[in-house]
Amino acid sequence: MANNLEKIISLCKRRGFIFQSSEIYGGFSSCYDFGPLGVEMKNNIKKAWWDEMAKNHDNIVGLDASILMSPKVWQASGHLTAGFADELVECKNCHKRFRSDEFEGQGRDRGGTVPQKCPECGGELTEPKKFNLMMKTFVGPVEDEAATTYLRAETCQGIYVNFENVLNSMRLKIPFGICQIGKSFRNEITPGDFIYRTREFEQMEMQWFCRPSASKTTRNRRGTKRGTDAEEKNNWRPDDWFEYWKKERLNWYLKLGIKKENLRIRGHKKEELPHYAIAGADIEYKFPFGWKEIEGIHNRGDFDLKNHSKFSGKDLSYYDEETKEKYIPHIIETSGGVGRSFLVFLIDAYQEIKGGRTKTTKATKEIEILLKLDKKLAPIKVAILPLVRNKPELVKKATEVYQMLKPYFACQYDELGSIGRRYRRLDEIGVPFALTIDFESLKQEDLTVRDRDTMKQERVKIKDLIKILKEKLEN
Ligand code: GAP
Repeated sequence: MANNLEKIISLCKRRGFIFQSSEIYGGFSSCYDFGPLGVEMKNNIKKAWWDEMAKNHDNIVGLDASILMSPKVWQASGHLTAGFADELVECKNCHKRFRSDEFEGQGRDRGGTVPQKCPECGGELTEPKKFNLMMKTFVGPVEDEAATTYLRAETCQGIYVNFENVLNSMRLKIPFGICQIGKSFRNEITPGDFIYRTREFEQMEMQWFCRPSASKTTRNRRGTKRGTDAEEKNNWRPDDWFEYWKKERLNWYLKLGIKKENLRIRGHKKEELPHYAIAGADIEYKFPFGWKEIEGIHNRGDFDLKNHSKFSGKDLSYYDEETKEKYIPHIIETSGGVGRSFLVFLIDAYQEIKGGRTKTTKATKEIEILLKLDKKLAPIKVAILPLVRNKPELVKKATEVYQMLKPYFACQYDELGSIGRRYRRLDEIGVPFALTIDFESLKQEDLTVRDRDTMKQERVKIKDLIKILKEKLEN
């Protein structure tokens, strides 16, 4: 019996969400292509994140930095040294490779030791070896040391090196954030679990620049008179922001419909912290293959701006006009993966209804799939269905409705098969609303709107349709 992940992988291919990269050549390991529905859904996830960060929060601006940067960036960031390396062990018998942190609670990154025997075949394991994850490339025609650079391994470095540009051009005051969505690359030793761990992936990162400690003025005020909420927040310490962003980010997944019992926050032990962080926590999801990280929140202290100041020779400290203090801002980072959240939204929305929900004679014996995606994330929002396709007047009316709605919503026109079969196809890809044009529609200038989740149908005048659908999709 296929587990949910296998069923979702099959659905993704069948319905155009995700394909294996270079499939006609036998595929290319751990690389995937997003199909017509996949790209719509991916764009919706990115928009939901961008709206949350840049619109729903004060003082966050966007950036789109280049993937290729000066190799000096990666020296300063510590990515070329042992800090950005996974520990690899190999089984001497079956030659399967493992990251030592794959051994839950036992790997060195989690403060334990790597087991002596291969978990697959019981064979002897090699000594752990460090393996750097940076993807090397060359710029220009000569492939030598001087032309070597790297595909970025995290988008945030583009933010740090632009800290001063953004601060000055936007005349920002601390605390403020810079957010960015973009591709990152890592030469992962053990990619897998579909799009969970890939070598090319997209990140949605926000870097929050804040005071290293509360200002003198606030320190004096604490315990005596409380300032306004905004004033208080302006003086929060990095630890306060770290707690704040953990909650905010968890809430984002909850607001988009992920079930509470499938999410948790796990604080990092000291031994697990990445080389740049002084504190960290993962938002984890209960995948079919276990609890795994989907987003990291890190307190990076002054590590990044201090090192970029040192390596570039440019002073990246901040002068606070009000308090007359000069300091290197501390950074709280939120770092999520587009692919990982895509997988989480799919898995959490996936439901199988035994015996069918649409109650057509055939369907009652079958299992029906319902993808209960949040309306914001659904790749297609509205489907337009003539009741039958062999009545030209119905087809004409349905085509007119489709043309009318197309500029406003991601729409699909579908006239193939019985209406029940069409509803099932739409439920399987999570279309929130299906509009059926029947003979009554020709007389009354109306149609039925079927709700994916409740299956309730209501008649609506065609002239009111855009307004009604907008309201329904926003709720
Ligand atoms: N700037 C900090 C940073 O990159 P990270 O914990 O290494 O932190 C953050 O990565 C997020 O990026 C992860 O939680 C995950 O969502 C995504 N990510 C990292 N490596 C990935 C990979 N190989 N495949 C897919 N997503 C990945």
